[in-house]
Amino acid sequence: MTVALDIKNVTKIYEKPGSSTFGFAKRFVKVVDGVSLAINDSEIYGFLGLNGAGKTTTIKMVLGLIQPTSGAVDIFGKDAREPASRACLGFAPERSSFYDYLTAGEVLETLGGLSGMDQKTIRAKTPELLELVALEGEDRTLVKNFSKGMQQRLGIAQSLLADPALLIFDEPTTGLDPFGRKIFKDLMVRLKGQGKAIFFSSHQLMDVQEICDRVGVIHRGKLVHEGPVAELVREGRTVEKWFIELLGQVDPGAKKPIQLD
Ligand SMILES: Nc1ncnc2c1ncn2[C@@H]1O[C@H](COP(=O)(O)OP(=O)(O)OP(=O)(O)O)[C@@H](O)[C@H]1O
Ligand SMILES: [Mg+2]
Repeated sequence: MTVALDIKNVTKIYEKPGSSTFGFAKRFVKVVDGVSLAINDSEIYGFLGLNGAGKTTTIKMVLGLIQPTSGAVDIFGKDAREPASRACLGFAPERSSFYDYLTAGEVLETLGGLSGMDQKTIRAKTPELLELVALEGEDRTLVKNFSKGMQQRLGIAQSLLADPALLIFDEPTTGLDPFGRKIFKDLMVRLKGQGKAIFFSSHQLMDVQEICDRVGVIHRGKLVHEGPVAELVREGRTVEKWFIELLGQVDPGAKKPIQLD
């Protein structure tokens, strides 16, 4: 077993939006608070939490897009601050948006080129990648003519370009139709079978229940639960029911979107 992703006690503190510019009156919020978790190869891990809980912020730290205030992230043993650590990482964001005037094939060429792949390899892989997300034959279609869900599926396809060993997605199935969700889930299970490690945030708890091996729940920046899905779904209980019960226990006032103070 190899540890693909190791999030080590990361904390992110932001200045509270709208707080005074005078130093003494500045207010700070701990958006992520001492989160530690590790993901192994051949594992699918679901990262759950209410709106504003800290999921995207954690993912951004893993991707090296923002730096933790304290703590560190390792990707296959390399510090995530080193660009080399990202060579084996694929990512699709919450909302994929591409240059409108590019075709789907050109999007893959551009993004693959940015990550150092040569054009010949990208072109050879394009038909297969588009087929994986049910966009076969669309390589010459302008992205502006794609629907939102089609753009999202293209985002998933581009994450697989370099055949990364660790895949990270921020709400990958939000906005996908039931077929798109099934395509995503089947794809993840296949990739897991190839030994990939997959870490994704989601509010789609049925999807999580179907494909995840383990889940972690973040609430107000803190990891409040981590464990195997099999333990949660005993006696016919769904992950969704379990999640609502857990949040009710952890924070009885947690029905509204989180406002950190
Ligand atoms: N740049 C920033 N400056 C200040 N606060 C921020 C910043 N970015 C995010 N936050 C705050 O951090 C908290 C966590 O945000 P984050 O985007 O990580 O939540 P999330 O769990 O991804 O939520 P959602 O399910 O809605 O996507 C929120 O309260 C948000 O307002
Ligand atoms: Mg988010």
